[in-house]
Amino acid sequence: MSLKWSEAIVVGRRVWDEGLFTLTLDAPGVPQFEAGQFLQLGLRDGEHHVHRPYSVASPHGPTLEFFIVLVPNGELTPRLWRLRVGDRLEVGHPAAGRFTLSRAPAAKDLWLIGTGTGVAPYVAMLRTEEPWKKYERIALVHGVRTRGDLAYRDEFEELQRSHPERFVYLPATSRDDPPGVSAGRVTALLSSGELEERAAMRLVPEQCAVLLCGNPAMLDDMERDLESRGLKRHRTHTPGQIVVERYW
Ligand SMILES: Cc1cc2nc3c(=O)[nH]c(=O)nc-3n(C[C@H](O)[C@H](O)[C@H](O)COP(=O)(O)OP(=O)(O)OC[C@H]3O[C@@H](n4cnc5c(N)ncnc54)[C@H](O)[C@@H]3O)c2cc1C
Ligand SMILES: NC(=O)c1ccc[n+]([C@@H]2O[C@H](COP(=O)([O-])OP(=O)(O)OC[C@H]3O[C@@H](n4cnc5c(N)ncnc54)[C@H](OP(=O)(O)O)[C@@H]3O)[C@@H](O)[C@H]2O)c1
Repeated sequence: MSLKWSEAIVVGRRVWDEGLFTLTLDAPGVPQFEAGQFLQLGLRDGEHHVHRPYSVASPHGPTLEFFIVLVPNGELTPRLWRLRVGDRLEVGHPAAGRFTLSRAPAAKDLWLIGTGTGVAPYVAMLRTEEPWKKYERIALVHGVRTRGDLAYRDEFEELQRSHPERFVYLPATSRDDPPGVSAGRVTALLSSGELEERAAMRLVPEQCAVLLCGNPAMLDDMERDLESRGLKRHRTHTPGQIVVERYW
């Protein structure tokens, strides 16, 4: 399907840490989409139109959120980083992508595992009814370098308070060691048993659906580790447990 472009206006800009930010856009032209899907964000420079895909970090609505990291020497993100409230950009639609809960396997437990901006689709999903209807328990694992990168932490902690029996937030930092946060890469924390212990949930094929999003090396390593536990990629004709979104 060919892309259509609509003008959007920046109505919010939240900086979580230097170079790590959420843009809220007033983007009235974007048709309905599913949480977990992505849109294109674009900027025009004369004839030159630069655009990239971004997961929407909010469900469909009058305003849309995007959780973005400034990639050093990247073509678009330095320009997105410079945008301020009132600035205009373009949104390419319709949304696309199969990283949605409607395509994820049914199971008792849902594990949402993301590094860096890879939690963006989970923010959107957790703001809908869908995960709460489809799964009994949900674990959200967010692996980042340092504590300042734990974006959306307040929102996830609030979910944990409001759903104490059903939702657990498992933040992890690999380059510092703040209190209440697991220390290490998410892969190491899976291997050591710390993730399952903190979640009081077992990551086994009989009862889990696992979504993975973020650093491509993490995706590969995590999928390999999960395969060694008997989990496999979920495909239309060969059902499994793992669904992956690859950003780069
Ligand atoms: C389906 C999908 C959803 C995405 N959603 C998001 C999102 O929600 N938030 C977000 O920040 N990005 C997201 N991305 C990545 C985004 O599309 C761009 O690739 C990224 O913002 C870099 O754009 P750029 O023009 O600045 O860099 P470019 O000039 O395109 O490329 C620089 C190089 O940086 C690398 N790179 C790309 N992204 C990253 C990254 N996050 N960290 C480190 N290296 C990277 C790649 O190797 C790339 O070749 C998504 C990508 C896909 C495919
Ligand atoms: N505040 C920010 O986050 C920020 C701000 C400005 C610019 N940037 C730039 O944005 C880019 C992305 O940085 P990022 O910090 O968002 O994401 P990232 O480099 O992908 O790191 C996020 C987490 O993924 C972990 N990871 C990396 N490879 C892994 C693997 N194979 N298995 C398991 N875990 C793995 C990292 O661990 P390790 O620590 O061990 O690598 C870290 O805990 C970088 O170029 C960075 O310089 C980031």
